[in-house]
Amino acid sequence: MRHFLHETDFAPKEIGDVFALARTYKRQRGRPCSVLAGKTWALIFSKSSTRTRVSFEVGIRELGGNTLFLNRNDIQLGRGETIEDTAKVLSRYVHGLVVRTYDHADVERLAAAGTVPVINALTDFLHPCQIYADAFTLAERWAGKRSNNLIGALKGRKIAFLGDTACNVANSWVIGANLLGMKISLAGPKGFAPSKTLDRMLEVQGLKEGYQFTTDPYEAVRGADVVYTDVWVSMGKEEETRKRVGQLSSYAVTAKLFAAAKPDAFFMHCLPAHPGEEVTQEVLDNPRSIIFDQAENRLHVQKAIITKLVAPKKRSS
Ligand code: CP
Ligand code: NVA
Repeated sequence: MRHFLHETDFAPKEIGDVFALARTYKRQRGRPCSVLAGKTWALIFSKSSTRTRVSFEVGIRELGGNTLFLNRNDIQLGRGETIEDTAKVLSRYVHGLVVRTYDHADVERLAAAGTVPVINALTDFLHPCQIYADAFTLAERWAGKRSNNLIGALKGRKIAFLGDTACNVANSWVIGANLLGMKISLAGPKGFAPSKTLDRMLEVQGLKEGYQFTTDPYEAVRGADVVYTDVWVSMGKEEETRKRVGQLSSYAVTAKLFAAAKPDAFFMHCLPAHPGEEVTQEVLDNPRSIIFDQAENRLHVQKAIITKLVAPKKRSS
């Protein structure tokens, strides 16, 4: 049983296959597809969502399947039924699970106890679907329409991540950049450096390049091909709002900071954005801001991820 809980669940070669398939799905949108014919996938969400929920629901239906949206508090999980029992029961009804939750260990436990594929739709630690869609968005820009070497187009490029450099999207980009041969510089205040857990994961996966961490946002964006930011207050951190806004204010992506990256650099944000906090409206509206391409590509890339997860195993001859 294959799951998609971390960026590393696909080898770089397989990520190339996912991207190629995503490009085909994007070009052939509207063509009938039967990859999930007769199947139902459930989405279990403990946090809010616009892009992830809608792109998965639409994507699964476009693959020929049905969806079931389950708010954690509407099912017995919200009243204390164990994750393991929930996984075992749901595995008897549905053919796959898409899960958005707090503790990363919860998606691991669901995957371990159930008998259907599980996709991580964001935890406090990682947001792998986002990073695949983001990397695909960059690859399709840099590779051009005719090249099939989507992964190759990313090699050696530099991404600068500013602000909450310890959040799930930053963590996932650190892993993603290492996996895809990109360089990553993170700029945030002291205390926002990537966690020991992330360092350990990089080590275990043999991703040795790692990242650069600096408290100077201008140092991070120098020579960058991409300037990326995320909200300063992730879901679940609302109580820290005042403190975080104070700590992170000098890391806002302004037109001046964006101009310090390469002249053809792209601006990216996973969204939702808070204009006037982590980024100015001017930067969001810049012609090199590709935020809505990122959002759109969630759909195509997730369809490709699901297709790869449910593909029959190749027999070794
Ligand atoms: N980027 C992202 O995951 O957005 P949602 O929270 O709206 O799903
Ligand atoms: N870091 C943000 C990402 C939202 C898509 C959060 O977890 O709220």
